[in-house]
Amino acid sequence: MSSEAVSVEKRAAELRRLIEHHNYRYHVLDDPEISDAAYDALYDELKSIEEEHPELVTPDSPTQRVGAPPAEGFRKVDHLSPMGSLEKVTTAEALSKWAEDVRKRLGTDEPVAYVIEPKIDGSAVSLVYERGLYVRGATRGDGLRGEDVTANLRTIEAIPLRMLVPEGAEQPELLEVRGEIYFPLDGFGRFNDAQIEAGKRPAPNARNAAAGSLRQLNPAVTAQRPLSIFAYGLGVFRGPRPSTQWEALAWLREHGFRTNPHAERLESIDEVTHACEAWEARREDLGYEIDGIVIKVDSFEQQERLGSLHERPRFARAYKWAPTSAVTRLRKIHVRVGRTGVLNPLAELEPVHVGGVTVSSATLHNEDDIRRKDIREGDLVLVQRAGDVIPQVVGPAGEHEPGSKQWRMPKRCPLCKTEIVKPAGEVMHRCPNRACPSRGLETLYHWVGPALDIEGVGGTTVRKLWDEGLVRALPDLYRLTVEELEGLEGFAEISAARAFESIQRSKEKPFSRILFGLNIPKVGWVIARSLAQHFGSAEILQAVTQEQLEEVEGIGPDRAELIAEWFSDEDNRTLLEELRELGLQLATAASGRPEDGPLTGTQYVITGTLEAWSREQAKAALETLGAKVTQSVSKKTTGVVVGESPGSKAAKAEQLGVPILSEAGLAELLRAR
Ligand code: IVH
Repeated sequence: MSSEAVSVEKRAAELRRLIEHHNYRYHVLDDPEISDAAYDALYDELKSIEEEHPELVTPDSPTQRVGAPPAEGFRKVDHLSPMGSLEKVTTAEALSKWAEDVRKRLGTDEPVAYVIEPKIDGSAVSLVYERGLYVRGATRGDGLRGEDVTANLRTIEAIPLRMLVPEGAEQPELLEVRGEIYFPLDGFGRFNDAQIEAGKRPAPNARNAAAGSLRQLNPAVTAQRPLSIFAYGLGVFRGPRPSTQWEALAWLREHGFRTNPHAERLESIDEVTHACEAWEARREDLGYEIDGIVIKVDSFEQQERLGSLHERPRFARAYKWAPTSAVTRLRKIHVRVGRTGVLNPLAELEPVHVGGVTVSSATLHNEDDIRRKDIREGDLVLVQRAGDVIPQVVGPAGEHEPGSKQWRMPKRCPLCKTEIVKPAGEVMHRCPNRACPSRGLETLYHWVGPALDIEGVGGTTVRKLWDEGLVRALPDLYRLTVEELEGLEGFAEISAARAFESIQRSKEKPFSRILFGLNIPKVGWVIARSLAQHFGSAEILQAVTQEQLEEVEGIGPDRAELIAEWFSDEDNRTLLEELRELGLQLATAASGRPEDGPLTGTQYVITGTLEAWSREQAKAALETLGAKVTQSVSKKTTGVVVGESPGSKAAKAEQLGVPILSEAGLAELLRAR
């Protein structure tokens, strides 16, 4: 081999090692060392070497994650050792009874330590590594045989294609890692939005979506889903083996596997019980679904002595909370008119306890969905609540009540009585009346809140203004006088003057925010900003064709048609004219300065490990909305987002009195915009 060939081969190996290392920093430690661009450069270099020298491609090359051809079906594979299941307990008493049994079996004076881990609600998999190389991945199946989903699992970046071997450590000959594949909730929300938009059925929950994504015949489809994994155990293992579950988790982490950061080692069952109970409230903040806590006796030697009963280990239990679904009676189906005129059917339920909260209403998606599931008023229905997602009616639970009828969308809008329409190709019904009171009010809420963020004028004020008949459309807001505001219940001289001031000041808000506030169908913040940047003014937007609109990224034919229609509508043209006359910015600033976002002028710091996001993603999301994300906390900092194991930055924030946001708080902040 020539010396050049040797050096190319060396470089390829080095690149693979580097990429795998940075992948580990990013996905497992959530602490990247290099920028995305630098990572891409390494990847591109490897890719081009491999293109020129196909003989250098190795199965563990990071370029080999996608690219396997679609399968015809899934081969069945026998697991190296059975994948059991867990006996569940639902009360503190049952938990202590189990601990008592464990103690008796082991000998009463032997100390027992436990490891507790969130029970991830996803899909269990087994990953097999031979001398460090990922060779096979399978679903749990019936516990003895699963389906071979090697190619699909390969696309999940949090799964190492080659295990890391810490310096001085021995490479296990054969290793089986067990873990749970899951669909992070923010990704799940987006996935379902896209499903609905594409006219497909949304997945009922994140677990289903994860399982479904794993069983795609085409790995390229799996690759598009934001799946991740938490590794929680070792199966067959040839080589020097850890001796406790706690060590096994550390071992997994050191060898490149992602483990859950919330695992804890506890020395008494009281502490375990306490922790399990505390988790019920915390589960909402995780960014992924858990359906309980797994408790394992820590020592492997003790585990072995305890053994199993019917493939259920005596050394472990799943502590589960009240179920997240329940059966209750559907009293009535109401219809709510959203701010773009879309009609949303809503279920009024007999109040029922689901997953720790009382639920008395739930979404029903649309008429087709209700008809397909044959859900009728008066029926007993199954209600499901997933994390902080709005409760849903899954379907009828039993026979229909005698005399019950199939549900139909009303012919007329419940508020303005205008005849309802259902545009061809859409699943949602709409009230076409732009002056429909519900739409008007919802538009006003949106305008003063997420869109223009008018300080001192919130939902309650808008409602009062509406009820008094003072504001029925956006321009009315700008014609309000201080006296009128002062006359409102709850307002005094100073508060009225302040509200007046902030309404007037909102005229300075950039064009993109106005566009976002106008409730143009299918125009959210991102599209509004693109429209403002691309076309620059309302006048131009009124003149452009559908084709020109489609040139903007993210705007397809359907969206373009709706936007074009909105701008050609006579009433909307009058509205724009009025707003312009009132002094609102209907064009982008000539300065060429980038358009402001809803968070412009704010400054955030992120510290600690976030669950659902990498730090880069969180940063990008904040920056897209106009926030600045900085490294150090100062008095100028608007808020500090604090994840797991935060550093000194959280303490500094506290010291300076800078507000602290949890990850849930961050999600809320981003969602509200
Ligand atoms: S340990 C003998 N740990 O729960 C089975 N399981 O019913 C030992 N799961 O199929 C499983 N998170 O899919 C274990 N931290 C965790 C888990 C976990 C989720 C799932 C797993 C398994 C089911 C047990």
